[in-house]
Amino acid sequence: MRALLADPRVTIEPAKLPKLSASDGDGGGFRSLLTMDPPDHSVLRRMLISEFSVRRVREMRPGIEHTVHGLLDGILKQRGPVDLVAELALPMSTLVICQLLGVPYEDHEFFQERSEQATRVGGNEESLAALLELRDYLDRLVTTKTGTPGDDLLGRLIADRLHTGEMRHSEIVDNAVLLLAAGHETSAGMVALSILTLLQHPDTLAELRADGTLLPQAVDELLRFHSIADGLRRAVTEDIELGGLTLRAGDGLILSLASANRDESAFASPDDFDPHSSARQHVAFGYGPHQCLGQNLARLELEVTVGAVVDRIPTLRLAGGVDALRVKHDSTIFGLHELPVEW
Ligand code: HEM
Repeated sequence: MRALLADPRVTIEPAKLPKLSASDGDGGGFRSLLTMDPPDHSVLRRMLISEFSVRRVREMRPGIEHTVHGLLDGILKQRGPVDLVAELALPMSTLVICQLLGVPYEDHEFFQERSEQATRVGGNEESLAALLELRDYLDRLVTTKTGTPGDDLLGRLIADRLHTGEMRHSEIVDNAVLLLAAGHETSAGMVALSILTLLQHPDTLAELRADGTLLPQAVDELLRFHSIADGLRRAVTEDIELGGLTLRAGDGLILSLASANRDESAFASPDDFDPHSSARQHVAFGYGPHQCLGQNLARLELEVTVGAVVDRIPTLRLAGGVDALRVKHDSTIFGLHELPVEW
């Protein structure tokens, strides 16, 4: 998996990927990090990476803690059952990405719905229509912000990159679409699945409650165990010999991170959830040039949210059976449609 994801003979450019169906087009001609190969990709990534550095993300901790505890205060005033997707996971990840980018939170229903549609499996035409609506929305927002760019990610790109000619308006818009969509669905999915998994592993839950230092390791194991972003699409541009196989120029690839993360030659007991096993080498954030830009932020969001739930709701339990939960088999980003709990 790592060899292929880091191989310069493997491309991510939509025009070079074999079509999976008749309606599988060029994805709207988006020019974002996830449609470009190096060296163009590297130039763009360098302009965005400082926003997601360990230091920058560390500075976001108090804001994220404030958001999470505010949401939990609201939940704990209720008698339950409460849906933790609608009342915690989704608002947390959406508030965080809105604040970071400088996108008004009051528009959240519009872009949550469009993002969900855009990542739905097999809905090519509807998915593209939703992506184009998101692009129109962010186009208008970037235009409005261009006069008076504020102190947020989009404002800084406008002030530091647009005004200097390093980025075009359309590039800022297309990458804003990626960040807005990738930035909230993924973290929300992981928060919900993490809480469910811990409820199914009461011993680990008790351990985490007694010793919070285990949390970062548990978060990485949760990321490995669930591998929510899977099926990365690529194509081969020159023949590649790998593991006794020849991948031919022009071949399409669908790379399963979930499969690599359950590889028994890499992990001792891959189908078990065990925060004491060393999950650090997992590929849940991908690998190579496109490795997740938001991974520091995603880890922090998970640590803060899961940690707060573990500490503040010791009697938390599922309201209803696990089998009744609706899982997102219909999405390219795995998660839960809802997580009803009581305490
Ligand atoms: C648990 C949460 C997350 C998971 C599991 C995840 C997973 C991934 C994966 C697997 C990729 C690689 C895709 C590929 O190579 O085709 C990726 C890329 C990316 N992710 Fe995440 N992600 C998460 C959260 C986030 C967040 C919170 C943000 C932004 C705030 C973000 C922004 C991005 C961006 C911009 C890329 C493209 C990077 C590039 O092409 O250079 N992700 N993510």
